[in-house]
Amino acid sequence: MYRAPRGMQDILPDDQPAWQQLIALCEDIAKRYGYRRIDTPIVEATEVFLHGVGETTDVVEKEMYTFRDKGENALTLRPEFTAAICRAYLEHGMAAWPQPVKLYAIGPLFRYDRPQAGRYRQFHQFNVEAIGDADPSLDAEVIDLAGQLFQEAGLTDLDLVVNSIGDEHCRPAYVAALRDYYRRWQDLLCADCRARLERNPLRLLDCKNPTCLRLGEEAPRSLDYLCTPCAAHFQQLAAYLDRLGRRWRIDHRLVRGLDYYTRTVFEYQPTEGGAQSAVGGGGRYDGLIARLGGKPTPGIGFATGLERVLLNRRKAGREEPAPARPLVFVVAIGEETRVEAVALASRLRARGIPTAGPLLSRSPKAQFRQADASGARLAVVLGPEELAAGEATLQFLREDRPPQRVPLAELAPVLLASA
Ligand code: HAM
Repeated sequence: MYRAPRGMQDILPDDQPAWQQLIALCEDIAKRYGYRRIDTPIVEATEVFLHGVGETTDVVEKEMYTFRDKGENALTLRPEFTAAICRAYLEHGMAAWPQPVKLYAIGPLFRYDRPQAGRYRQFHQFNVEAIGDADPSLDAEVIDLAGQLFQEAGLTDLDLVVNSIGDEHCRPAYVAALRDYYRRWQDLLCADCRARLERNPLRLLDCKNPTCLRLGEEAPRSLDYLCTPCAAHFQQLAAYLDRLGRRWRIDHRLVRGLDYYTRTVFEYQPTEGGAQSAVGGGGRYDGLIARLGGKPTPGIGFATGLERVLLNRRKAGREEPAPARPLVFVVAIGEETRVEAVALASRLRARGIPTAGPLLSRSPKAQFRQADASGARLAVVLGPEELAAGEATLQFLREDRPPQRVPLAELAPVLLASA
């Protein structure tokens, strides 16, 4: 039997109400904070991610679905939105729009990762980007948007952790200090970290190997190496966050897995669950647009995995939204009513009434059983007698009320009134 590809899943009808409700919440929050929707292609030129996300990241090194199309173009299924949105910012001359340009996206992403709970090869993100303004108030706004989303989604036990990893002026000295420190402990490092030590020592800080973790606690801290403008930026962000009343703490080991970050990085992590299972995260990327060939342009953004939000919602015991049900089920009795029953169902649907049936391959009894199972509130019964009188019988499936005969012409308004 064929199965969905490993790490990818069907979203079945019963799961859809929770999905649609979450997507509607994301869109509503985006609107409240002034973000407008953008959709980008599911594939991009591979170079967008190579240069954008960075060649020494796990995403680029191990996780991209890359292929050549029939024209020999190297394309990649998008593993994230940020680089793609910045590509669109440049392609469409958004630098000429009022800044910052605030955009959001929702859709599927692809990472060839080891599947486990909350980690998939196809997953979905809600992602926001504010491009064209370096002020720390914007960092605070993005962090606040994320917090508001999680609050309204019913996720209560989340820690907000924040760090600053400096910029191109102060980061080199920090990276050098980090490399010196880890070199001293080289023999204790895991194989991955030893390999990463020379190329990208920042990544050693978020290794989950117990020995590397312990070494990370004593490692040099980026906040101690910030240049004056980066330190001032972080201080102002801290003041905004304190005033916004969102509980937060500094995590010196938070660096995030993507190379484009500068200054602010942050994550929302389940209180019990560890950094591996961050529900969402983001940060500032003041060098990314230039890396993609544009003029130096600052940006800050955030993304959350919708699967992880739903998983944590369920863990928190939040109630699932009710599945959609038809309002009425048309039951046809007798050969001569068949054509009219089909036309009747069509008329009701055209009037905006969610209508199921008629199921003409089944007996009336089986139709009633199905009507009951469908969750419909009303059965609209069309038998030979009703047909002759130009009427239908309304039966209340969930209430103890007597049936009611209604002229066909009045059926839609009567049903709408009882909706
Ligand atoms: P990220 O941390 O790679 O950041 O992903 C953000 C969120 O996407 C994660 O916190 C998680 O909820 C979800 N996620 C990531 N990978 C998976 C996976 N394999 N399965 C399920 N969920 C996953 C970014 O993608 C950045 N582009 C965020 C950003 C926007 N930074 C600035 N602007």
